[in-house]
Amino acid sequence: MNLQNAVALVTGGSLGIGKAVAQRLAAAGARVAITGRDAARLKATAAELGVHPIQADVAVEVDVLRTYREVLDKFGDLDILVNNAGVGAFGPLVGFDLTAFEKVMATNVTGAMLMGREAAKIFVARNRGNIVNIASTAAVRGAPNGTAYYASKFALRGMTECWRAELRKNNIRVFLVNPSEVITSFAATAGFPQTNNPSKLQGEDIAHMVKAILEMEDRGFTTELTVFATNPQD
Ligand SMILES: NC(=O)c1ccc[n+]([C@@H]2O[C@H](COP(=O)([O-])OP(=O)(O)OC[C@H]3O[C@@H](n4cnc5c(N)ncnc54)[C@H](OP(=O)(O)O)[C@@H]3O)[C@@H](O)[C@H]2O)c1
Repeated sequence: MNLQNAVALVTGGSLGIGKAVAQRLAAAGARVAITGRDAARLKATAAELGVHPIQADVAVEVDVLRTYREVLDKFGDLDILVNNAGVGAFGPLVGFDLTAFEKVMATNVTGAMLMGREAAKIFVARNRGNIVNIASTAAVRGAPNGTAYYASKFALRGMTECWRAELRKNNIRVFLVNPSEVITSFAATAGFPQTNNPSKLQGEDIAHMVKAILEMEDRGFTTELTVFATNPQD
């Protein structure tokens, strides 16, 4: 697809990977809207990138419905959803906190479903569109302390496969992108330490790949893409 003038909606676009994706798509000439819950952060990022801010929680259905109304009011169209908003909670199964588990599922699974559902309504009517789901290498194998986060990303991967099977006949491309560790605020927000090191992935590396897979001619698409750091050092 040609990104020039394409309309892209990036959830969780105020920080980290989503911000880098929004920046990269806007630089390629796309008209971009970003979402996030924290109004001040969202406004600051939108001003910095020259994109349109929509304060909304992906896990809240009325927010999701309003997000799409705002996108259509502002741009009159939609070509790309980047389902990026995500949170983590980590700990041993024994003693895993139910509220923490449900929060991860609400954003990473329910939120992605609500956003994908509403995008699909628009894309089916137009008979074309693109949904990029940002999962993780946590979507393909388990690890200690991963109960909530890994399960949420397995679920996102499962939904991706269902949507792809359902929506291909409508010319809708559904992509899964699985980053390994990326230096963002994610770890700190989830309450675990992260060592910054130039050998580790940055948000712009994932943004580079998102742009590249979208830009392929619409007759084809990359179903699933995993991004590793070459030789990450802690
Ligand atoms: N960093 C990594 O190592 C890594 C690796 C693999 C995959 N991922 C995935 O990449 C995605 C982005 O992560 P990141 O590392 O960029 O995290 P981040 O720096 O913490 O950014 C997360 C973004 O999502 C927003 N967000 C969180 N919950 C939301 C909700 N319910 N509704 C709307 N927006 C919400 C945040 O803004 P507000 O808090 O203001 O809402 C923020 O803009 C996530 O899906 C994550 O699982 C990250």
